[in-house]
Amino acid sequence: MSFRTQPLPPARLNRCQLFGPGSRDGLFEKMARSDADVINIDLEDSVAPDDKEKARRMTIEAIGDVDWGDKTLSVRINGLDTPFWYRDVVDLLEHADERLDQIMIPKAGNAADIYAVDALVTAIEKARGRGKKIGFEAIIETSAGICHVEEIAAASPRLQAISLGAADFAASMGMATTGIGGTQENYYMVREGQKYWPDPWHWAQTAIVAACRTHGVLPVDGPFGDFKDDEGFRAQARRSATLGMVGKWAIHPSQIALANEVFSPSPDAVTEAREILSAMEEAKRAGAGATVYKGRLVDIASIKQAEVIVRQAELIDDK
Ligand code: COA
Ligand code: MG
Repeated sequence: MSFRTQPLPPARLNRCQLFGPGSRDGLFEKMARSDADVINIDLEDSVAPDDKEKARRMTIEAIGDVDWGDKTLSVRINGLDTPFWYRDVVDLLEHADERLDQIMIPKAGNAADIYAVDALVTAIEKARGRGKKIGFEAIIETSAGICHVEEIAAASPRLQAISLGAADFAASMGMATTGIGGTQENYYMVREGQKYWPDPWHWAQTAIVAACRTHGVLPVDGPFGDFKDDEGFRAQARRSATLGMVGKWAIHPSQIALANEVFSPSPDAVTEAREILSAMEEAKRAGAGATVYKGRLVDIASIKQAEVIVRQAELIDDK
């Protein structure tokens, strides 16, 4: 128990983050018209080294020229282990329109990585008199990142969200798979001759959720590579939602509706959450800390659980 109150994360929807390469400007208008809550234009791994400069230029133009509506607009910069990242930050902060909301920092390994980008961004914001403070999001996708996830979550007040990047994470951990997220064929248990498949991402996801919730940051599930496998995506997303994550990436438009579906509470869940809150109000008036709702115990902790669902429903209603 701590006397500190757990901080709330940013009050905005983050059910789906749609990615597209900064080198494919033909996609920008389509991304802007999509139903994703967050747009991530990528300068990192979906852009070939020879295209980095062109992608940066086209991205900066699109930030100002495209109507991004009410979406959160983010650009994924290159990793701090590359020669590209500082130029990404400098050019974005010096030349991109103030419509840009966030920078995404990939392969974050420790708090100092976030600090380094923060120092550069802060200096350019001051030098250029930028009115809007840029937010950060980070990706945990290395063994170092998961070891230091708590200090990363606490590293900067700019930090809004942290995602799990399954592919790089698997590579960094030396996991014997080339799959991006989801069930892994060889990660199974056997009982009475029957195989079943547990979730190899569970530990990393839970560590990210715990760090994020401690520091008021949104925990997000990253990519699911097989964009033809709707059921696989849905199952992965439902597990993430159950563990406390607020959304998931889409690497193809076919995944947007699936993410929105999973991370929007169903009308029945919202009704039930509101009924639990009313039941607890009544219990409080009667001087009780616990009561029975539909045959099961609800108590003061149930209020907080129900409030998570009601808060998300209100954000969706306000959209
Ligand atoms: N955002 C918006 N629209 C997209 C899109 C995206 N990321 N990817 C594809 N589309 C559009 C296509 O332009 C096409 O539109 P049309 O019907 O008007 O012609 C439609 O969706 C169907 O596209 P499809 O032909 O199935 O895909 P593709 O072969 O053009 O592209 C990928 C497939 C995977 C290469 C592409 O979706 C992509 O680049 N995804 C993002 C990759 C990325 O950013 N990775 C980094 C994070 S892991
Ligand atoms: Mg990656």
